[in-house]
Amino acid sequence: MEKQSETEQKLQTLYDTLVTYSESDFYPYHMPGHKRRQDVGAASDFFRLDITEIDGFDNLHQAEGIIRQAQERASGLYGADESFFLVNGSTCGILAAIHAVTDRGDTILIARNCHKSVYHAAFLQELNLEYIYPEQIEEYDINDAINPEAVQSALEEHPECSAVVITSPTYEGVISDIAEIARIVHGKGKPLIVDEAHGAHLGLAENIPENAVRQGADLVIHSLHKTLPSMTQTALLHVNGNYVNRARLRQYLRIFQSSSPSYVLMAGMDACISYIKENAAHDFNKMHLHYQNFIRQMEMCRYIHIATPESLGNGKYCFTAWDICKLVISVKKASISGQTLYNILRDEFHLQMEMAADSYVLAIMTIADKEDAWKRLADALIQIDGTIDGADTTDNIINISQTHHKHIEPIRPIARMSIASALTSFYKNPKETPLAQAQGKVSGGFVNLYPPGIPILIPGEMLDGDIIKQIEHCLELGLNVQGISPTGTVEII
Ligand SMILES: Cc1ncc(COP(=O)(O)O)c(C=O)c1O
Repeated sequence: MEKQSETEQKLQTLYDTLVTYSESDFYPYHMPGHKRRQDVGAASDFFRLDITEIDGFDNLHQAEGIIRQAQERASGLYGADESFFLVNGSTCGILAAIHAVTDRGDTILIARNCHKSVYHAAFLQELNLEYIYPEQIEEYDINDAINPEAVQSALEEHPECSAVVITSPTYEGVISDIAEIARIVHGKGKPLIVDEAHGAHLGLAENIPENAVRQGADLVIHSLHKTLPSMTQTALLHVNGNYVNRARLRQYLRIFQSSSPSYVLMAGMDACISYIKENAAHDFNKMHLHYQNFIRQMEMCRYIHIATPESLGNGKYCFTAWDICKLVISVKKASISGQTLYNILRDEFHLQMEMAADSYVLAIMTIADKEDAWKRLADALIQIDGTIDGADTTDNIINISQTHHKHIEPIRPIARMSIASALTSFYKNPKETPLAQAQGKVSGGFVNLYPPGIPILIPGEMLDGDIIKQIEHCLELGLNVQGISPTGTVEII
Protein backbone atom coordinates (compact mmCIF):
# COMPACT_ATOMS: atom_id res chain seq x y z
CA MET A 1 0.00 0.00 0.00
CA GLU A 2 1.32 3.43 -0.85
CA LYS A 3 2.09 5.50 2.19
CA GLN A 4 -0.74 7.98 2.63
CA SER A 5 -0.13 11.54 3.71
CA GLU A 6 -1.34 12.36 7.21
CA THR A 7 -4.11 14.65 5.96
CA GLU A 8 -5.38 12.00 3.59
CA GLN A 9 -5.47 9.48 6.41
CA LYS A 10 -7.23 11.95 8.71
CA LEU A 11 -10.11 12.26 6.29
CA GLN A 12 -10.58 8.52 6.03
CA THR A 13 -12.56 6.59 8.58
CA LEU A 14 -10.98 3.49 10.06
CA TYR A 15 -13.37 1.46 7.92
CA ASP A 16 -12.25 3.16 4.67
CA THR A 17 -8.63 2.57 5.61
CA LEU A 18 -9.24 -1.11 6.23
CA VAL A 19 -11.00 -1.47 2.88
CA THR A 20 -8.11 0.23 1.09
CA TYR A 21 -5.64 -2.01 2.89
CA SER A 22 -7.60 -5.16 2.10
CA GLU A 23 -7.44 -4.25 -1.60
CA SER A 24 -3.67 -3.70 -1.53
CA ASP A 25 -1.05 -6.41 -2.19
CA PHE A 26 0.31 -6.39 1.35
CA TYR A 27 0.59 -10.00 2.52
CA PRO A 28 -0.02 -10.79 6.23
CA TYR A 29 2.83 -12.66 7.91
CA HIS A 30 1.10 -11.99 11.23
CA MET A 31 -2.09 -12.67 13.18
CA PRO A 32 -5.01 -13.35 12.75
CA GLY A 33 -4.66 -16.89 11.50
CA HIS A 34 -7.22 -16.62 8.71
CA LYS A 35 -4.76 -14.36 6.82
CA ARG A 36 -7.63 -12.26 5.48
CA ARG A 37 -8.50 -15.06 3.05
CA GLN A 38 -12.10 -15.43 2.04
CA ASP A 39 -11.86 -19.09 1.07
CA VAL A 40 -11.14 -20.71 4.43
CA GLY A 41 -14.27 -21.71 6.27
CA ALA A 42 -17.89 -20.70 6.33
CA ALA A 43 -17.28 -17.49 8.30
CA SER A 44 -14.61 -16.26 5.93
CA ASP A 45 -16.71 -13.35 4.64
CA PHE A 46 -15.72 -11.56 7.81
CA PHE A 47 -11.97 -12.06 7.37
CA ARG A 48 -11.19 -9.44 4.72
CA LEU A 49 -11.03 -6.49 7.11
CA ASP A 50 -9.94 -8.31 10.24
CA ILE A 51 -6.35 -7.30 11.05
CA THR A 52 -4.19 -6.81 14.11
CA GLU A 53 -1.99 -3.88 15.22
CA ILE A 54 0.20 -3.66 12.14
CA ASP A 55 2.16 -0.60 11.00
CA GLY A 56 -0.04 2.37 10.25
CA PHE A 57 -3.04 1.03 12.14
CA ASP A 58 -2.35 2.39 15.64
CA ASN A 59 -3.02 0.55 18.91
CA LEU A 60 -6.19 0.87 20.95
CA HIS A 61 -4.21 0.59 24.19
CA GLN A 62 -1.98 3.51 23.28
CA ALA A 63 -3.91 5.33 20.60
CA GLU A 64 -1.82 7.93 18.80
CA GLY A 65 -2.86 7.67 15.16
CA ILE A 66 -5.88 6.49 13.24
CA ILE A 67 -7.67 5.03 16.28
CA ARG A 68 -7.06 8.18 18.27
CA GLN A 69 -8.56 10.23 15.44
CA ALA A 70 -11.57 7.94 15.35
CA GLN A 71 -12.01 8.25 19.13
CA GLU A 72 -11.78 12.03 18.78
CA ARG A 73 -14.59 11.94 16.25
CA ALA A 74 -16.65 10.10 18.88
CA SER A 75 -15.81 12.58 21.67
CA GLY A 76 -16.69 15.44 19.31
CA LEU A 77 -20.07 13.91 18.58
CA TYR A 78 -20.98 13.38 22.23
CA GLY A 79 -19.29 16.45 23.72
CA ALA A 80 -16.74 14.57 25.86
CA ASP A 81 -13.21 15.62 26.79
CA GLU A 82 -12.08 12.13 25.77
CA SER A 83 -13.75 8.98 24.48
CA PHE A 84 -12.47 5.42 24.36
CA PHE A 85 -13.56 2.63 22.04
CA LEU A 86 -14.72 -0.44 23.92
CA VAL A 87 -14.64 -3.79 22.17
CA ASN A 88 -15.99 -5.82 25.10
CA GLY A 89 -19.25 -3.89 25.36
CA SER A 90 -20.33 -1.43 28.04
CA THR A 91 -19.47 -4.15 30.54
CA CYS A 92 -15.73 -3.47 30.33
CA GLY A 93 -16.33 0.30 30.40
CA ILE A 94 -18.31 0.00 33.61
CA LEU A 95 -15.65 -2.22 35.18
CA ALA A 96 -12.90 0.24 34.21
CA ALA A 97 -14.88 3.34 35.25
CA ILE A 98 -15.63 2.03 38.73
CA HIS A 99 -12.07 0.83 39.26
CA ALA A 100 -10.74 4.21 38.14
CA VAL A 101 -12.56 6.11 40.89
CA THR A 102 -12.44 3.69 43.83
CA ASP A 103 -9.80 2.09 46.01
CA ARG A 104 -10.13 -1.48 47.23
CA GLY A 105 -12.63 -1.74 50.06
CA ASP A 106 -14.25 1.66 49.40
CA THR A 107 -17.97 2.27 49.66
CA ILE A 108 -19.96 3.47 46.64
CA LEU A 109 -23.50 4.64 46.21
CA ILE A 110 -25.33 2.90 43.39
CA ALA A 111 -28.85 2.75 42.07
CA ARG A 112 -30.22 -0.66 42.99
CA ASN A 113 -31.39 -1.19 39.41
CA CYS A 114 -27.83 -1.09 38.06
CA HIS A 115 -26.70 -3.73 35.58
CA LYS A 116 -24.85 -6.75 36.94
CA SER A 117 -21.51 -5.39 35.65
CA VAL A 118 -21.68 -2.70 38.36
CA TYR A 119 -22.03 -5.46 40.96
CA HIS A 120 -19.20 -7.39 39.34
CA ALA A 121 -16.97 -4.32 39.67
CA ALA A 122 -17.98 -4.15 43.33
CA PHE A 123 -16.93 -7.78 43.74
CA LEU A 124 -13.55 -7.31 42.07
CA GLN A 125 -12.76 -4.12 43.97
CA GLU A 126 -14.22 -5.49 47.23
CA LEU A 127 -16.54 -2.51 47.52
CA ASN A 128 -19.30 -1.98 50.03
CA LEU A 129 -22.53 -0.94 48.41
CA GLU A 130 -25.05 1.63 49.54
CA TYR A 131 -28.22 1.90 47.47
CA ILE A 132 -30.59 4.41 46.03
CA TYR A 133 -33.87 2.64 45.30
CA PRO A 134 -35.90 4.05 42.42
CA GLU A 135 -39.61 4.41 43.04
CA GLN A 136 -42.02 2.36 40.93
CA ILE A 137 -44.19 3.76 38.16
CA GLU A 138 -47.17 1.76 39.34
CA GLU A 139 -49.23 2.27 36.19
CA TYR A 140 -46.68 0.21 34.25
CA ASP A 141 -44.70 -1.75 36.88
CA ILE A 142 -41.43 -0.17 35.81
CA ASN A 143 -38.78 1.77 37.69
CA ASP A 144 -39.01 5.53 37.82
CA ALA A 145 -35.88 7.60 37.32
CA ILE A 146 -33.43 8.23 40.14
CA ASN A 147 -34.70 11.03 42.33
CA PRO A 148 -32.05 13.74 42.83
CA GLU A 149 -33.34 14.25 46.38
CA ALA A 150 -32.70 10.59 47.13
CA VAL A 151 -29.13 11.03 45.91
CA GLN A 152 -28.73 14.09 48.12
CA SER A 153 -29.96 12.35 51.26
CA ALA A 154 -28.03 9.13 50.56
CA LEU A 155 -24.82 11.13 50.21
CA GLU A 156 -25.55 12.93 53.46
CA GLU A 157 -26.14 9.61 55.17
CA HIS A 158 -23.06 8.01 53.60
CA PRO A 159 -20.40 10.70 53.20
CA GLU A 160 -17.82 7.89 52.97
CA CYS A 161 -19.00 6.96 49.44
CA SER A 162 -16.28 7.59 46.91
CA ALA A 163 -18.52 7.69 43.81
CA VAL A 164 -22.11 7.48 42.61
CA VAL A 165 -23.28 5.13 39.84
CA ILE A 166 -26.71 5.27 38.23
CA THR A 167 -28.36 3.86 35.11
CA SER A 168 -30.14 6.26 32.79
CA PRO A 169 -32.06 5.60 30.62
CA THR A 170 -33.32 2.49 32.35
CA TYR A 171 -33.81 -0.64 30.30
CA GLU A 172 -37.40 0.56 29.79
CA GLY A 173 -36.30 4.02 28.66
CA VAL A 174 -36.91 6.19 31.72
CA ILE A 175 -34.45 9.09 31.90
CA SER A 176 -33.13 10.73 35.10
CA ASP A 177 -32.32 14.37 35.73
CA ILE A 178 -28.59 13.94 35.23
CA ALA A 179 -27.78 17.66 35.35
CA GLU A 180 -29.29 17.97 38.82
CA ILE A 181 -27.79 14.70 40.06
CA ALA A 182 -24.35 15.74 38.78
CA ARG A 183 -24.70 19.08 40.58
CA ILE A 184 -25.50 17.28 43.85
CA VAL A 185 -22.75 14.69 43.51
CA HIS A 186 -20.15 17.31 42.59
CA GLY A 187 -21.36 19.44 45.51
CA LYS A 188 -20.04 16.62 47.70
CA GLY A 189 -16.79 16.51 45.74
CA LYS A 190 -17.45 13.09 44.19
CA PRO A 191 -17.57 11.72 40.65
CA LEU A 192 -20.77 10.61 38.93
CA ILE A 193 -20.76 7.58 36.65
CA VAL A 194 -23.77 7.23 34.37
CA ASP A 195 -24.41 3.88 32.77
CA GLU A 196 -26.03 5.26 29.63
CA ALA A 197 -25.64 1.91 27.86
CA HIS A 198 -29.18 2.22 26.52
CA GLY A 199 -28.79 5.86 25.53
CA ALA A 200 -26.00 6.01 22.95
CA HIS A 201 -28.43 7.91 20.73
CA LEU A 202 -29.22 10.59 23.33
CA GLY A 203 -28.29 14.14 22.41
CA LEU A 204 -27.63 13.24 18.77
CA ALA A 205 -30.61 15.12 17.33
CA GLU A 206 -32.72 18.05 18.43
CA ASN A 207 -35.80 16.04 19.27
CA ILE A 208 -33.90 13.48 21.38
CA PRO A 209 -33.23 14.13 25.10
CA GLU A 210 -29.73 15.36 25.98
CA ASN A 211 -27.02 12.85 26.89
CA ALA A 212 -25.33 12.50 30.27
CA VAL A 213 -21.96 13.63 28.87
CA ARG A 214 -23.27 17.11 28.15
CA GLN A 215 -25.17 17.23 31.43
CA GLY A 216 -22.11 17.00 33.62
CA ALA A 217 -21.52 13.31 34.36
CA ASP A 218 -17.83 12.47 34.75
CA LEU A 219 -17.84 9.00 33.23
CA VAL A 220 -20.50 7.87 30.76
CA ILE A 221 -20.76 4.47 29.15
CA HIS A 222 -22.62 3.91 25.87
CA SER A 223 -23.44 0.61 24.20
CA LEU A 224 -23.42 1.70 20.57
CA HIS A 225 -24.78 -1.71 19.64
CA LYS A 226 -27.99 -1.35 21.62
CA THR A 227 -29.67 1.60 19.92
CA LEU A 228 -27.44 2.65 17.02
CA PRO A 229 -26.39 0.85 13.84
CA SER A 230 -23.24 -0.77 15.21
CA MET A 231 -22.09 -4.31 15.86
CA THR A 232 -22.64 -6.25 19.05
CA GLN A 233 -19.95 -5.56 21.68
CA THR A 234 -19.21 -2.06 20.37
CA ALA A 235 -19.40 0.60 23.07
CA LEU A 236 -17.85 3.87 24.19
CA LEU A 237 -16.54 5.24 27.45
CA HIS A 238 -16.52 9.03 27.77
CA VAL A 239 -14.71 11.03 30.40
CA ASN A 240 -15.12 14.67 31.37
CA GLY A 241 -13.67 17.07 33.94
CA ASN A 242 -11.13 16.63 36.71
CA TYR A 243 -12.64 14.06 39.03
CA VAL A 244 -11.19 11.10 37.14
CA ASN A 245 -7.53 10.19 37.07
CA ARG A 246 -7.10 9.56 33.33
CA ALA A 247 -3.90 7.49 33.67
CA ARG A 248 -5.66 5.18 36.08
CA LEU A 249 -8.67 4.91 33.79
CA ARG A 250 -6.44 3.99 30.85
CA GLN A 251 -4.68 1.37 32.97
CA TYR A 252 -7.95 -0.29 33.87
CA LEU A 253 -9.09 -0.20 30.25
CA ARG A 254 -5.89 -2.07 29.38
CA ILE A 255 -6.79 -4.64 32.03
CA PHE A 256 -10.42 -5.14 31.09
CA GLN A 257 -10.16 -4.88 27.29
CA SER A 258 -8.76 -7.57 25.08
CA SER A 259 -5.12 -7.15 24.11
CA SER A 260 -6.25 -8.04 20.58
CA PRO A 261 -9.08 -5.58 19.97
CA SER A 262 -11.02 -6.29 16.80
CA TYR A 263 -10.42 -3.80 13.98
CA VAL A 264 -13.71 -4.85 12.48
CA LEU A 265 -15.52 -3.73 15.62
CA MET A 266 -13.50 -0.52 15.89
CA ALA A 267 -14.07 0.32 12.23
CA GLY A 268 -17.75 -0.41 12.77
CA MET A 269 -17.85 2.15 15.59
CA ASP A 270 -16.11 4.78 13.51
CA ALA A 271 -18.47 4.10 10.62
CA CYS A 272 -21.44 4.39 12.99
CA ILE A 273 -20.19 7.77 14.28
CA SER A 274 -19.77 9.04 10.70
CA TYR A 275 -23.19 7.79 9.73
CA ILE A 276 -24.80 9.48 12.71
CA LYS A 277 -23.03 12.77 12.06
CA GLU A 278 -24.50 12.88 8.60
CA ASN A 279 -27.91 11.34 9.14
CA ALA A 280 -29.03 11.83 12.74
CA ALA A 281 -31.29 14.84 12.14
CA HIS A 282 -33.09 13.21 9.22
CA ASP A 283 -33.30 9.71 10.70
CA PHE A 284 -34.52 10.75 14.15
CA ASN A 285 -37.12 13.07 12.62
CA LYS A 286 -38.43 10.15 10.63
CA MET A 287 -38.37 7.94 13.67
CA HIS A 288 -40.42 10.47 15.62
CA LEU A 289 -43.05 10.44 12.90
CA HIS A 290 -43.17 6.63 12.93
CA TYR A 291 -43.44 6.67 16.73
CA GLN A 292 -46.29 9.20 16.74
CA ASN A 293 -48.18 7.26 14.07
CA PHE A 294 -47.69 4.06 16.02
CA ILE A 295 -49.00 5.62 19.24
CA ARG A 296 -52.03 6.96 17.35
CA GLN A 297 -52.74 3.54 15.81
CA MET A 298 -52.44 1.85 19.18
CA GLU A 299 -55.23 4.01 20.57
CA MET A 300 -57.56 1.51 18.86
CA CYS A 301 -56.60 -1.16 21.37
CA ARG A 302 -58.86 -1.85 24.32
CA TYR A 303 -56.50 -3.68 26.67
CA ILE A 304 -52.99 -3.42 25.27
CA HIS A 305 -51.39 -0.03 25.86
CA ILE A 306 -48.11 1.63 25.09
CA ALA A 307 -46.64 3.31 28.15
CA THR A 308 -46.17 7.03 27.55
CA PRO A 309 -45.15 9.79 29.96
CA GLU A 310 -48.23 11.79 28.90
CA SER A 311 -50.49 9.08 30.34
CA LEU A 312 -49.06 9.63 33.83
CA GLY A 313 -49.93 13.24 34.45
CA ASN A 314 -47.54 15.89 35.66
CA GLY A 315 -45.29 15.87 38.66
CA LYS A 316 -46.13 12.43 40.03
CA TYR A 317 -42.79 10.92 39.09
CA CYS A 318 -39.26 12.25 38.83
CA PHE A 319 -38.22 11.25 35.29
CA THR A 320 -37.28 14.08 32.94
CA ALA A 321 -37.99 12.24 29.68
CA TRP A 322 -38.74 8.87 28.09
CA ASP A 323 -36.82 7.34 25.32
CA ILE A 324 -38.69 6.56 22.10
CA CYS A 325 -36.29 3.71 21.35
CA LYS A 326 -38.12 1.70 24.00
CA LEU A 327 -41.72 0.59 23.67
CA VAL A 328 -43.17 -0.70 26.90
CA ILE A 329 -46.18 -2.63 25.66
CA SER A 330 -48.36 -2.92 28.73
CA VAL A 331 -50.81 -5.77 29.27
CA LYS A 332 -51.68 -4.62 32.76
CA LYS A 333 -55.28 -4.15 31.71
CA ALA A 334 -55.36 -7.32 29.61
CA SER A 335 -56.16 -10.94 30.34
CA ILE A 336 -52.74 -12.18 29.27
CA SER A 337 -49.30 -11.91 30.82
CA GLY A 338 -46.35 -10.18 29.20
CA GLN A 339 -44.75 -13.56 28.58
CA THR A 340 -47.88 -14.78 26.77
CA LEU A 341 -47.97 -11.70 24.56
CA TYR A 342 -44.27 -12.14 23.86
CA ASN A 343 -44.85 -15.77 22.84
CA ILE A 344 -47.81 -14.90 20.60
CA LEU A 345 -45.84 -12.14 18.87
CA ARG A 346 -42.96 -14.53 18.27
CA ASP A 347 -44.85 -17.70 17.37
CA GLU A 348 -47.81 -16.34 15.42
CA PHE A 349 -46.46 -13.10 13.96
CA HIS A 350 -42.71 -13.81 13.83
CA LEU A 351 -41.99 -10.62 15.75
CA GLN A 352 -39.15 -11.18 18.21
CA MET A 353 -39.34 -8.83 21.20
CA GLU A 354 -36.48 -7.76 23.46
CA MET A 355 -37.96 -8.89 26.75
CA ALA A 356 -41.07 -10.06 28.58
CA ALA A 357 -42.02 -9.11 32.12
CA ASP A 358 -45.15 -9.97 34.07
CA SER A 359 -47.25 -7.06 32.83
CA TYR A 360 -45.41 -5.82 29.78
CA VAL A 361 -43.31 -6.67 26.78
CA LEU A 362 -40.38 -4.51 25.75
CA ALA A 363 -39.54 -3.71 22.13
CA ILE A 364 -36.44 -1.81 21.08
CA MET A 365 -36.93 0.50 18.12
CA THR A 366 -34.13 2.37 16.38
CA ILE A 367 -33.52 4.53 13.33
CA ALA A 368 -32.95 1.29 11.43
CA ASP A 369 -36.66 0.43 11.78
CA LYS A 370 -38.55 1.61 8.73
CA GLU A 371 -42.27 2.21 8.42
CA ASP A 372 -43.08 -1.46 7.79
CA ALA A 373 -41.49 -2.53 11.09
CA TRP A 374 -43.70 -0.09 13.04
CA LYS A 375 -46.74 -1.12 11.03
CA ARG A 376 -46.17 -4.85 11.47
CA LEU A 377 -45.99 -4.42 15.22
CA ALA A 378 -49.05 -2.16 15.44
CA ASP A 379 -51.09 -4.48 13.20
CA ALA A 380 -50.14 -7.53 15.28
CA LEU A 381 -50.93 -5.84 18.59
CA ILE A 382 -54.29 -4.55 17.33
CA GLN A 383 -55.16 -8.02 16.07
CA ILE A 384 -54.17 -9.67 19.36
CA ASP A 385 -56.07 -7.02 21.32
CA GLY A 386 -59.21 -8.02 19.44
CA THR A 387 -58.93 -11.60 20.68
CA ILE A 388 -58.29 -11.09 24.40
CA ASP A 389 -60.28 -9.98 27.43
CA GLY A 390 -59.63 -7.36 30.04
CA ALA A 391 -57.74 -8.28 33.20
CA ASP A 392 -59.71 -9.64 36.11
CA THR A 393 -58.69 -7.17 38.78
CA THR A 394 -60.76 -8.67 41.58
CA ASP A 395 -57.97 -10.91 42.79
CA ASN A 396 -54.58 -9.63 41.80
CA ILE A 397 -52.47 -10.88 44.63
CA ILE A 398 -52.68 -14.61 45.16
CA ASN A 399 -53.44 -16.34 41.92
CA ILE A 400 -50.71 -15.82 39.38
CA SER A 401 -52.61 -17.13 36.40
CA GLN A 402 -52.79 -15.66 32.95
CA THR A 403 -55.67 -13.46 33.95
CA HIS A 404 -54.00 -11.83 36.93
CA HIS A 405 -51.04 -9.53 37.21
CA LYS A 406 -49.49 -9.81 40.57
CA HIS A 407 -48.10 -6.49 41.64
CA ILE A 408 -44.45 -7.14 42.43
CA GLU A 409 -43.54 -4.96 45.38
CA PRO A 410 -39.94 -3.82 45.05
CA ILE A 411 -38.01 -5.79 47.64
CA ARG A 412 -35.04 -4.44 49.56
CA PRO A 413 -32.98 -7.46 50.60
CA ILE A 414 -30.84 -7.17 53.73
CA ALA A 415 -27.09 -7.51 53.19
CA ARG A 416 -25.20 -9.62 55.72
CA MET A 417 -21.80 -9.12 54.13
CA SER A 418 -20.10 -7.66 51.04
CA ILE A 419 -20.27 -9.39 47.66
CA ALA A 420 -16.56 -10.15 47.83
CA SER A 421 -16.75 -11.77 51.31
CA ALA A 422 -19.81 -13.77 50.31
CA LEU A 423 -18.32 -15.06 47.06
CA THR A 424 -15.00 -15.86 48.73
CA SER A 425 -16.71 -18.01 51.34
CA PHE A 426 -19.03 -19.56 48.75
CA TYR A 427 -16.12 -20.65 46.55
CA LYS A 428 -14.29 -22.11 49.57
CA ASN A 429 -17.33 -24.13 50.56
CA PRO A 430 -19.99 -24.09 47.82
CA LYS A 431 -23.48 -25.10 48.96
CA GLU A 432 -26.87 -25.25 47.31
CA THR A 433 -30.34 -25.66 48.69
CA PRO A 434 -33.81 -25.88 47.10
CA LEU A 435 -35.17 -22.35 46.78
CA ALA A 436 -38.26 -23.21 48.83
CA GLN A 437 -36.03 -24.20 51.76
CA ALA A 438 -33.62 -21.29 51.56
CA GLN A 439 -35.39 -18.99 53.98
CA GLY A 440 -32.97 -17.42 56.45
CA LYS A 441 -29.88 -18.41 54.44
CA VAL A 442 -27.36 -15.99 52.97
CA SER A 443 -27.02 -15.99 49.20
CA GLY A 444 -23.76 -17.28 47.77
CA GLY A 445 -24.46 -16.15 44.21
CA PHE A 446 -26.30 -13.67 42.02
CA VAL A 447 -29.91 -14.17 41.05
CA ASN A 448 -30.59 -12.06 37.95
CA LEU A 449 -33.50 -11.62 35.63
CA TYR A 450 -31.99 -11.84 32.16
CA PRO A 451 -32.76 -9.70 30.34
CA PRO A 452 -32.30 -7.06 31.71
CA GLY A 453 -29.41 -8.42 33.80
CA ILE A 454 -30.38 -6.53 36.94
CA PRO A 455 -29.80 -8.59 40.10
CA ILE A 456 -32.79 -9.48 42.26
CA LEU A 457 -30.44 -10.86 44.88
CA ILE A 458 -26.70 -10.47 45.26
CA PRO A 459 -24.14 -12.56 47.15
CA GLY A 460 -24.20 -11.75 50.85
CA GLU A 461 -27.91 -10.87 50.97
CA MET A 462 -30.51 -12.73 53.02
CA LEU A 463 -33.01 -15.03 51.38
CA ASP A 464 -36.20 -14.10 53.19
CA GLY A 465 -39.78 -15.15 52.46
CA ASP A 466 -40.55 -12.16 50.22
CA ILE A 467 -37.50 -12.55 48.04
CA ILE A 468 -38.11 -16.29 47.68
CA LYS A 469 -41.72 -15.61 46.65
CA GLN A 470 -40.57 -13.04 44.12
CA ILE A 471 -38.07 -15.42 42.54
CA GLU A 472 -40.69 -18.19 42.44
CA HIS A 473 -43.11 -15.78 40.80
CA CYS A 474 -40.60 -14.94 38.08
CA LEU A 475 -39.97 -18.66 37.50
CA GLU A 476 -43.70 -19.38 37.27
CA LEU A 477 -44.05 -16.66 34.67
CA GLY A 478 -41.40 -18.42 32.59
CA LEU A 479 -38.99 -15.47 32.83
CA ASN A 480 -35.31 -16.21 32.43
CA VAL A 481 -33.95 -16.30 35.97
CA GLN A 482 -30.19 -16.76 36.18
CA GLY A 483 -28.76 -18.16 39.40
CA ILE A 484 -31.41 -20.82 40.01
CA SER A 485 -30.31 -24.27 38.83
CA PRO A 486 -32.51 -26.38 36.52
CA THR A 487 -33.41 -28.46 39.60
CA GLY A 488 -34.55 -25.34 41.48
CA THR A 489 -31.64 -24.86 43.85
CA VAL A 490 -29.99 -21.61 44.88
CA GLU A 491 -26.37 -21.01 45.93
CA ILE A 492 -25.91 -20.26 49.62
CA ILE A 493 -23.12 -19.89 52.16
C1 LIG B 1 -28.07 -0.95 31.78
C2 LIG B 1 -27.00 -1.80 31.16
N1 LIG B 1 -25.72 -1.49 31.38
C3 LIG B 1 -24.71 -2.22 30.85
C4 LIG B 1 -24.97 -3.30 30.06
C5 LIG B 1 -23.83 -4.08 29.49
O1 LIG B 1 -23.72 -3.74 28.16
P1 LIG B 1 -22.90 -4.61 27.10
O2 LIG B 1 -23.78 -5.75 26.74
O3 LIG B 1 -22.65 -3.65 25.98
O4 LIG B 1 -21.65 -5.06 27.76
C6 LIG B 1 -26.30 -3.67 29.81
C7 LIG B 1 -26.61 -4.84 28.97
O5 LIG B 1 -27.69 -5.23 28.73
C8 LIG B 1 -27.34 -2.90 30.38
O6 LIG B 1 -28.63 -3.23 30.18
